[in-house]
Amino acid sequence: MSKEADRPKVADLLKCAERGVEVTVKGWVRTKRGNKNVAFIAVNDGSTIHNLQVVADVASFDEELLKQVTTGSCIRVVGTLVDSLGSGQPVEVQAREIELYGGADPETYPLQKKGHTLEFLREIAHLRPRTNTFGAVRRMSHAMAFAIHKYFNDHGFYYLHTPLITASDAEGAGAMFQVTTLDIANPPRTEDGSIDYTQDFFGKQCNLTVSGQLEGEIGAMALSKIYTFGPTFRAENSNTPRHLAEFWMIEPEMAFYELEDNMDLAEDFLKYLIRYALENCMDDLEFLNKMYDNDLIERLKFVTDNDFVRLDYGEGIEILSQSGMKFEFPVAWGLDLQSEHERYLVEQHFKKPVILINYPKEIKAFYMKLNADGRTVRAMDVLFPKIGEIIGGSERETDLDLLQTRMSDYGIRPEDMWWYLDLRRFGSAPHSGFGLGFERLLLFVTGMSNIRDVIPFPRTPKNAEF
Ligand code: 4AD
Ligand code: MG
Repeated sequence: MSKEADRPKVADLLKCAERGVEVTVKGWVRTKRGNKNVAFIAVNDGSTIHNLQVVADVASFDEELLKQVTTGSCIRVVGTLVDSLGSGQPVEVQAREIELYGGADPETYPLQKKGHTLEFLREIAHLRPRTNTFGAVRRMSHAMAFAIHKYFNDHGFYYLHTPLITASDAEGAGAMFQVTTLDIANPPRTEDGSIDYTQDFFGKQCNLTVSGQLEGEIGAMALSKIYTFGPTFRAENSNTPRHLAEFWMIEPEMAFYELEDNMDLAEDFLKYLIRYALENCMDDLEFLNKMYDNDLIERLKFVTDNDFVRLDYGEGIEILSQSGMKFEFPVAWGLDLQSEHERYLVEQHFKKPVILINYPKEIKAFYMKLNADGRTVRAMDVLFPKIGEIIGGSERETDLDLLQTRMSDYGIRPEDMWWYLDLRRFGSAPHSGFGLGFERLLLFVTGMSNIRDVIPFPRTPKNAEF
């Protein structure tokens, strides 16, 4: 490894027990204060929520250079690691040499000391990772992605890359981004006037994927347990704090798992991830708990320490109907639950995460296994406090005839899905899976309240800046 790769980062130096050693610090200046004799420069390199204090004897440095060391500038410091005299940090660096990598004009640099609103910071998504809040969120995002791969690796799952460009509509939702190289101002037409997709790049109409599940099922029918973890696209025009047009989804798919096994996995997986955050991200959690959500750490512990409630959709509707609550959206058997209903069940009624199962078939996707009652399917939604739905999944239909009937109910042509049907024709097996929205998970573990603040570059209706 190069010397630069081995250089201790701010997080390492703050934990270092040695004193009097020479160290090199590289990072961005958060603040500079002091007097005519001494300057205190708080440096952060993104490795921790905490800054390293650099102390510079004004007389030993070029005045012009020190003037350019302002909030937002980037510097290299060589100096001695010593006990800090000030409170608030164990060590500081007594500077011997300072190099300015890049200045930041105080007149125009947007991130001055004072607190900014999250809305303002969204407009400067290229600079917001340099704030405490977004540094914390990004580090936690990394920790969660790493923990997801670790969990599956440790449990015998294989990581499967499913395509982002597809010709199938996995959710039957119809809210898709089309992928085409045709001239949209003047597309080729067939005799009946419709667009001639045989002339398009792929020779048929394609879109960005809304889910990797259907290809995930191919993987499970050979490798037993797989998971996907990749970008997912939905062109729904929903401007809510929980919806993105581009988000990342984790989709495990398991042969031989029935609905019960699927629920057990979802609960164990979510608890593992939250425990991982509590064990590995405490500095960042404490900051977010203090700044944004005073119940955050308590709530995370509560989820890891308690069993999720498992409830029939029908019973859920019953509870909601008898709640005496005035909901904005109607409650009745056959209707889908809205976020307000989900949150009522979780936050007010049970005060625990809830796994709602056996939904009416009409409101769920075509691939879900039909129950013996003929009117509900083996669906499961995991509902979380503050978030509502964090996971959606099901046991899959394996009966070829039933599956074909369901597909024709949804207007899906069997010839477009021949390969999916083949999985039921050759070596079919009971199987199940679910999808976890990565950014919904991040909302929960960071305590942030808008999904635009947990993804680095949010894609939402009328917004694709950066
Ligand atoms: O419930 P959904 O639509 O389920 C599926 O896509 C299935 N194919 C999953 C499976 O069984 N393999 O989406 C799964 C999860 C939701 O519970 C939610 O967490 C997240 O994906 N999600 C979104 N997150 C952010 N923005 C959006 N627009 C989302 N839509 C779904
Ligand atoms: Mg869903």
